[in-house]
Amino acid sequence: MARERVTAARALCMRGYLLTVSLSVWMDGAHGIGVQLIPQYPVVSQSVTLSVTGVTGTIRQFDWYKGSSTNTNTQIFTVIPSTNSVTKGPQYFPRASQFPNGSLQISGLFLTDQGSYTVQIQTESTVQATVSLPVYGPVTASGISTDNKEPQENQPVTLTCSANNAEQILWGKNGVPLPPGLTLSADNRTLTFPRISRSDTGQYRCEASNAVSKIISDPYTLTVNYGPEYFKITGTLQVTSGYSTSLECSADSVPAPTYQWKFNGTNLESQTNPLYIQQATPENAGNYTCIGTNSVTKLSRETSVYVSVNDYDASHSGNSAAITVAIICGSILGIVLISGIMALLYRKYVLPLRGQSGDRGEDPSQIYYNIPNTAAAHPAIEEGPYMGLQYPSQDTYSELKP
Ligand SMILES: *[C@@H]1O[C@H](CO)[C@@H](O)[C@H](O)[C@H]1NC(C)=O
Ligand SMILES: *[C@@H]1O[C@H](CO)[C@@H](O)[C@H](O)[C@H]1NC(C)=O
Ligand SMILES: *[C@@H]1O[C@H](CO)[C@@H](O)[C@H](O)[C@H]1NC(C)=O
Ligand SMILES: *[C@@H]1O[C@H](CO)[C@@H](O)[C@H](O)[C@H]1NC(C)=O
Repeated sequence: MARERVTAARALCMRGYLLTVSLSVWMDGAHGIGVQLIPQYPVVSQSVTLSVTGVTGTIRQFDWYKGSSTNTNTQIFTVIPSTNSVTKGPQYFPRASQFPNGSLQISGLFLTDQGSYTVQIQTESTVQATVSLPVYGPVTASGISTDNKEPQENQPVTLTCSANNAEQILWGKNGVPLPPGLTLSADNRTLTFPRISRSDTGQYRCEASNAVSKIISDPYTLTVNYGPEYFKITGTLQVTSGYSTSLECSADSVPAPTYQWKFNGTNLESQTNPLYIQQATPENAGNYTCIGTNSVTKLSRETSVYVSVNDYDASHSGNSAAITVAIICGSILGIVLISGIMALLYRKYVLPLRGQSGDRGEDPSQIYYNIPNTAAAHPAIEEGPYMGLQYPSQDTYSELKP
């Protein structure tokens, strides 16, 4: 069944093909001749030959016309090849020349040379043919411009690809073709974002081409401005007197916000982000406010944290629990160390006696060298919890005031 259908389809195709062939033969019979462009895509300032094909018999005379009719007003020239006589017509121009086989050559092409040309040839009979001459200019000045240089999220944005002599324009984003769903004009020259989103940020290029040349524009970096969002202060809110700390303000924002700090409501001039509190004193305790402003969206956000400064001695005695923890940790470490030494001694002295594996060459004094060394590390480890008191784990304080 299926095969039969295929065969039937093929027969239909064949018939279509035959029909086309016989039609063109019949047309050739009517018009007799054709005109072929050499080269196929003529370029500005170069030359083209409008080569007449299919001529049978000797050419007695041929005429070239600008346009699609054989009107004396549109005549370029009349040529009688046997006498090599050329009669100039009203449309004659010096860049036009002829060959004895009926062809027309135009040199130093201008864009304005494009259009229809008609040739009439007299052999036994008179036949004529019309050809459409395209003239291609090299694609130039491809570049992207915009109507909104600093777009904010949700605003409309249009990108325009400017190019001369382009027949096709293609767009790319970040080196790949455009994602679907974007609006291009019919000629692809403009790319419209009715409401731009931060995900439209990227590098755009347009490629303008015609049959003879192609230009890819420089990349245009589209930056979508938004924020500040997720505004917050990160830092240590309990400082021990004499120690330093910092508060850092951050946000999701394009461009990055400019930050201003306040302490108890008074602007802190010359303070940058992060804000450093060097060798804290009780006077540093108070309300720290960060204000972030996006210079493009003009949006400001602010948030505050309260920083307390603990007296050093008070924190020392008030945290005996931490010292207890430290002592316990120390003891555990001690036990671990002793076990380690025991294991080492076992390996050094008992194992070699049992097995044949020999670390015999090693000096046993190295083991004694190791003991004071690890013991010296002990107080350093004990300091751990104190470090923790001075710098409690960093906390994040999200926006208090949206
Ligand atoms: C006619 O002559 C020109 C110049 O010699 C040549 O380029 C062209 O191919 C010729 N056309 C044909 C159909 O032979
Ligand atoms: C427009 O772009 C599409 C692809 O996005 C392409 O297929 C089409 O050929 C282009 N048309 C023109 C006139 O450049
Ligand atoms: C900090 O100061 C700001 C104004 O500068 C105020 O709105 C906020 O309530 C204060 N916060 C605290 C914890 O005192
Ligand atoms: C800042 O404000 C706090 C109360 O919010 C207050 O205890 C502290 O003394 C103030 N500090 C200064 C230097 O004004």
